[in-house]
Order: sequence, then structure tokens, then C-alpha cells
Amino acid sequence: MEQYAIKGGNPLVGDVEIGGAKNAALPILAASAMTDETVYIDNVPDVRDINVMLNAMQDIGVAVRHAGRHKVILNAGNIHSLVAENETIKKIRASYYLMGALLGKYNCAEVALPGGCDIGCRAIDQHIKGFRALGAEVVIEHGLIKAKAARLTGSHIYMDVVSVGATINVMMAAALAEGLTIIENSAKEPHVVDVANFLNSMGANIKGAGTDVIRIKGVSRLHGSEYTIIPDQIEAGTFMFAAAVTRGDVTVKNIIPKHLESITAKLLEIGCEVEEAEDCIRVVSSKPLLHTHVKTLPYPGFPTDMQPQITAALALSRGTSIVTESIFENRFKYVDELTRMGANIKVEGNTAIIDGVGRYTGASISAPDLRAGAALVIAALSAEGFTLVDDIRYIERGYEDFHLKLQNLGAHIELVETEKEFQKFKLRVG
Ligand code: UD1
Repeated sequence: MEQYAIKGGNPLVGDVEIGGAKNAALPILAASAMTDETVYIDNVPDVRDINVMLNAMQDIGVAVRHAGRHKVILNAGNIHSLVAENETIKKIRASYYLMGALLGKYNCAEVALPGGCDIGCRAIDQHIKGFRALGAEVVIEHGLIKAKAARLTGSHIYMDVVSVGATINVMMAAALAEGLTIIENSAKEPHVVDVANFLNSMGANIKGAGTDVIRIKGVSRLHGSEYTIIPDQIEAGTFMFAAAVTRGDVTVKNIIPKHLESITAKLLEIGCEVEEAEDCIRVVSSKPLLHTHVKTLPYPGFPTDMQPQITAALALSRGTSIVTESIFENRFKYVDELTRMGANIKVEGNTAIIDGVGRYTGASISAPDLRAGAALVIAALSAEGFTLVDDIRYIERGYEDFHLKLQNLGAHIELVETEKEFQKFKLRVG
């Protein structure tokens, strides 16, 4: 089993190219199955969750070709099954996007109940509420969500919670429903807008994505398209906080600075310098980090997917910080691992109370989930001594070439498989 061997202490310095947004790519790939014509998607990140989605799509008959590492060509003209229950698909949360896509196009879909990171109860009631409002019968049987309708008709849907997944899923199905659908209290994340733009590029009629009311006039069919996915806000934010934690100087390139405003604001609050240009942001961390408070919120609030990374920074800041997690109820599991590295953090319910310490020390730790795993790597990069990070398969779900990009910034990080390799790494970088 591969692990990351890390020697901390090097400030990260240099430029890093940010890839396409995983959480936009997943629904966009699923939505590509909504036309029989060929679709060309560029800037698709080469990460595990994406490959799981592509495999599941191939399993139901979608023809998938790669034209280069980040360009995928899909044709769903010969789908032979509306049941997506491939062994791996249930492991990713985004499997549910096949529901909206297939239900919209064929009025019928059966998809394995989603998994994903274990960060709390992850209900799908709002997805189901939306599909039912469009006229589908939805049941959960034998681990599958099954939805079918004689035809889908537009509806007025109020989301009881702001949900990225439910907003996108219902928007996809409604794109091919008869008449007007209005989704109120919709999620406003950049990837919601990206999916709407993609569907519109295929001939859909969606207005208001990026606000909390989305209006979808159903069309009878969608056509082929060429589309480039937006940059990954969370990958960029992770490298920005890596600069902060390691007292580095990192420029994240190929990004949309507007999508990173809440992250930039917090970096400024904790004493980093942040310079913005049209498609890049430079973060310099030259002074001691300051404490602050942060609460995760739906966009444009501070993203829950950046909560572990900011906590890793605040644990090294002067004074006491409070981090409140308001989206998922069980997203502080990694705190035990940070504590093993010397952090002083007390978790009470959905709040972490952090007393800053002067430094981390290397330890053997495990990545409990995707973003927490990345945060632990960042902590290890600033720690005194060596760290071995286990369960890095979680990190590989969402970060392409994570260790290579970090190496490029001067980090001592390598993949190792055995204790012997770890010892060799220690001798080499010692
Ligand atoms: C997506 C992202 C995930 C991110 C999250 C919040 C993907 C693949 N994953 O997850 O990385 O952390 O957005 O930005 O894009 N909820 C319900 N009922 C529902 C749906 C959601 O109660 O039907 C609740 C959830 O339990 C959670 C909150 O709504 O408390 C937000 O969840 P949601 O925005 O749906 O997250 P995901 O789409 O699963």
C-alpha cells in the first residue's frame, strides 16, 4: 500500500498549475450522457473519483475515449442499461449524478446509493424530493435508488437545505422535462454554474445559476458540445494554505480569483500577503500566523472542503481560534491525527477550539478522508522531522499528482510502499 513519506521544514516556493474542478467534472461527465451526440470535455482532472465515474458510464454503454490526459470524448448513443450498480460507483458520492442525467433523458434510472467521504450523514432526501416534484416515482430498494416516470414535468421546488448535489441533480433532470422548473434556495457554488453552462452549451435553457433561484425551461433534446471545465477552487485553496502553513511563497496559476474570495479573505486575516492577478494568486507567508474564527457555509461562504486545511494553519497561529463546521456534522476526525503531530485542538460538537502551538512534529498518521488527508500532508510539510501518511488513496480521489506538484514547490515528499523505502527516503533527504 502506497504511503507518503514527508520530511517537513521546507517552505513551499514557486508556481503550481491548478487542474479542472473535480466537483464540476463529475456532474458534467454524467450530463454528457444526456445526448446521443458526441461530447468533448476538456480540463478533466485525472483523479480517482473521475475514473470511477467514467468506468461506471462505460459499464452502462457510454463510449469513453481519452484524447490526452485531460480531454475526454463521450458518446452515449448506445446506452444499454439504465442501472448503474458497478462495484466501485457506490464508493463515490457523485454516483447520484447519473440519476438526474438518466432520469432526464430516459425517464428511468437505477443507481447504487452513494458513498463518498465519511464526514457525516449525507442525506439524499432533497434529490428525491426534487425528482418526485418532477413527476418521478422514487424508491430505495436493495441498495439502489430507483426512479421512473411516464414523463417529467416542470415544477416549483423549494430546497429545504442548500445542497450542491440536489441542485445539480434536479437541474439536470429538469433540463429535459416538459415546461418550467424553478428551484428555490439552490446552491450557488461555481460548479453549479459550470454545470448549467455546460447544459446550456448542449441546448438546455437554464437561467439564474449562481443565484438562489434557478429557472429551467425544459427542452425536448440536447445536442453535442465542446466544453472546458473550470479550475478547481479547492485544489487551489489547498496550495494557498500550504503556502501559509510552510511559511512559503506560492503562486496558484490557471484559477478564477473570484471563486477564491473567502479563502483569500481568511489568508489575509491570518497575516499572509495575497496578490491577485487575472488568473493567478500569489500567497506569501513571511510573518507569524495570527488567529481567527471561521464558520463553513455554502458559497460564497468559506467552503467546508477547506475546513481541515485552515484548521491545520490555525493550529500554528498565535492565540485561540474557533472553527465552526456548519455543513457536515462529523468533519473533525482528522483532529486526532493533528494532535499526534503536536496540535492543541479541542472539539466540541461542530466546533473546534484551537490553541496555537509553535510547531508540528512528524508522526505516523492516516488520512481519514480526502480534504483532511490533504490538510495532514500540509501540516507534515511544516513539521519538524519525518511523517508517514497512510491511506493516501483518499487524497488521490481528488488531487492529481499531489506529491509531484508539492515536490515542484520544493517539498520533500515521496511515495513509498515499504518500511525499507521509508528508511531509504530518510537517509536520502536526512
Ligand atoms: C458536495 C461536494 C462536497 C462538498 C459539499 C458541500 C461533490 C461530489 N461533493 O457534496 O465535496 O463538501 O458539496 O460543498 O460535489 N443534504 C441533505 N439532503 C440532501 C442533500 C444534502 O440534508 O438531499 C445536506 C447534507 O447532509 C449536508 C448539506 O446538505 O449537510 C450540504 O450537502 P451537499 O451540498 O448536498 O453536499 P454534496 O453535494 O453531497
